[in-house]
Amino acid sequence: MSIRYNPDCRTITLNTARTTYQVKIDRLGVARHAYYGARTADEDLSYLVYEKGDGMSVNPYEAGYGDRSYSLDTLPQEYSGFGSGDYRETALSVRDARGAECAFLRFESFQIRRGKYGLGPLPSACADAEAGVWTLVLRLCDRESGVSADLYYGVFEEEDVITRAVRIRNGGTGPVTLEKCASLQLDFQYGAYELVTFPGKWAGERRVNREKLTRGVKSVGSRSGASGAFYNPSAILAAAGTGETRGEAYGIAFVYSGDFLLQAEVSEFDSTRLLLGIHPDHFRWTLAPGETFTAPEAVMAYSDAGLECLSHRFHRFVQDRIVRGYWRDRRRPVLLNSWEGTYFTFTGEKLLRMAREAQAFGAELFVLDDGWFGKREDDRSGLGDWFPNERKLGMSMAELGEGIRAMGLGFGLWFEPEAVSEDSDLFRAHPDWAVSVPGRKPSLGRYELVLDLSRKDVQDWLITRMEAVIREAGAAYVKWDFNRNLTDLYSAALPAERQGEFQHRFILGTYRVLGALLEAFPGLLVEGCSSGGARFDLGMLCFTPQIWTSDNTDAIDRLFIQYGTSMLYPPSVMGAHVSAVPNHQTGRVTPLETRAAVAMAGCFGYELDPERLTEAEKERIRAQIGRYRDLWDTVFRGKYYRLASPEEDVTVWESVSEDLGQALVTAVYGTVHGNMYVKRVRLRGLDPDAAYTLRVLEGAERLPAQARTLFTGGRTLLGQTLMNQGMYIPPAACDRQAWQIRLDRA
Ligand code: DGJ
Repeated sequence: MSIRYNPDCRTITLNTARTTYQVKIDRLGVARHAYYGARTADEDLSYLVYEKGDGMSVNPYEAGYGDRSYSLDTLPQEYSGFGSGDYRETALSVRDARGAECAFLRFESFQIRRGKYGLGPLPSACADAEAGVWTLVLRLCDRESGVSADLYYGVFEEEDVITRAVRIRNGGTGPVTLEKCASLQLDFQYGAYELVTFPGKWAGERRVNREKLTRGVKSVGSRSGASGAFYNPSAILAAAGTGETRGEAYGIAFVYSGDFLLQAEVSEFDSTRLLLGIHPDHFRWTLAPGETFTAPEAVMAYSDAGLECLSHRFHRFVQDRIVRGYWRDRRRPVLLNSWEGTYFTFTGEKLLRMAREAQAFGAELFVLDDGWFGKREDDRSGLGDWFPNERKLGMSMAELGEGIRAMGLGFGLWFEPEAVSEDSDLFRAHPDWAVSVPGRKPSLGRYELVLDLSRKDVQDWLITRMEAVIREAGAAYVKWDFNRNLTDLYSAALPAERQGEFQHRFILGTYRVLGALLEAFPGLLVEGCSSGGARFDLGMLCFTPQIWTSDNTDAIDRLFIQYGTSMLYPPSVMGAHVSAVPNHQTGRVTPLETRAAVAMAGCFGYELDPERLTEAEKERIRAQIGRYRDLWDTVFRGKYYRLASPEEDVTVWESVSEDLGQALVTAVYGTVHGNMYVKRVRLRGLDPDAAYTLRVLEGAERLPAQARTLFTGGRTLLGQTLMNQGMYIPPAACDRQAWQIRLDRA
């Protein structure tokens, strides 16, 4: 059993295969956080917690007359409430009907059970079977008010991951209001840490930012109704000196797609506290007696072998426990998306011609992006009118879908379900369905308003309409976009005292619509998108097995975006397309093989007008798609290694298949220089005793003579040699050249 209670010392120990997490119930009934780290012997680790009252600390009443070293302000805790002596950022803030803000949470009971808890309407990690997964529910209670907090822990033994969630219950006699309700608190009494976050922007999502934590609070978050492009709801806490292959690191990520706040606080005694949860700024949730509120799930993992090991733990967990349904283990279709090829300007005939070309070079799915519905010639109108524009198409959606399917291709459609244009029939019929504060003009984002998905009538309408179009089109794929964020927070359907619930209800509504569509069409592949990767989170990934990583399709910019994303998200969830050059976002011209090599590190596709390709290019694309099919399993199910970051002259990454029989090393040069040095990399994760052949996939004729034998399968090298002594990356003949080198066990 992975969760053990020791009644002698009142510890609860959670063990995964390689990590241990321990909680200690202390003499006042406070759940102390005793330990999280490498797997330990079965011992009471709470000796590590040093009770250190500061001269200025306050003490709980029971301790106050004699035990001045006992202070909640300095003790590591599992879940702290504001108003009982902890002056740090606390996890819970609850106000009673008198206006008093106070919660002193103490142990009441616990329950250990096989399998994974569920969270009702909220998405959460899943367990196909009960084996290897355990749940702890630790109930803490504020004895005076009767408010309780059920702390949920999901222990995934093999994956070395622990999930967290919290359910607050008002067990008192009057109403209480939650003003903050974090999902995860992680306290460290010792250690100097650096915080890695993933700041970004439109077309530049998830860069890596690493900074030393010093006294004070470092926080990132979102108040925009979506997890957002500016920060990702995930972070890594790394011990100083931690690199790819050594050092301690803790990863956390939120299974939620709305407002979030991630805080890292270093206290006066250099202890560090991490908090992750719904952003409290615009959140208020009132609970009548007997009512509960469930805070979304957060995921955490620990590695004592550097960032790479942490990434591997997250990757596997996301692949197996977050992504679910029909597409979880299936190869995703290679798609052609119409957006950058046509934008809003197309007819049904043009689309059919594009699809025919795509089919000829080996694509499997044709995706019709924005512009097929209502009055939608540009981005100023039409959103919400999810009725095919047959005049523009020159045919019905059923005919278009049939035409595409007759070529042997799947058909996919773009939607932006949470948006509505002012210039739309939907808005004219239901102005109150758009989010805005009464008496004010709503703010616009890309000329759009937000549809109030907190309302059940809106959700129901959307489900019915989308289902009808998907059925008519025979669509096998939906791209679910969201191009603006929320700001004028107000729902016409909520009373004044419940407006603070709006944003969370909005996200629950989005999840409900997604869930309903997948129930109606279990084989539907939904790709998440939000102006690219502005809603790239584990919440969406519970519904959408892949997310469009960024609107920036430039291969060189993508190196940075995919590198940062890869820290906690696997390649199998990153949508990545080859687009035309000069690139539409950067104007950069990058060789076709480089664009393909970079896109092959994700869910591969093309996003261009194939009628503008030369015959030679189409031939090369046919070969690229063939290679992708061959290597898919290695990239998707294998392990991913970052060998050289995009900050270097050559970015290098490696994927190794689960059975170690195949690997793909991809190297992409930035700007090349005259008489450039040759880069050596040490490969990782290979079978040390196996001999491997090395073959470049494209451009072998450009290899310098001395590199030909090695990189065209002419000799073998042992895995241990490639890992210890390494190999050099063949020089580049031009800027931004890529090499894909395939390794096969001989
Ligand atoms: C933003 C998306 O990220 C693009 O890929 C495209 O779908 C456009 N929206 C369509 O409006």
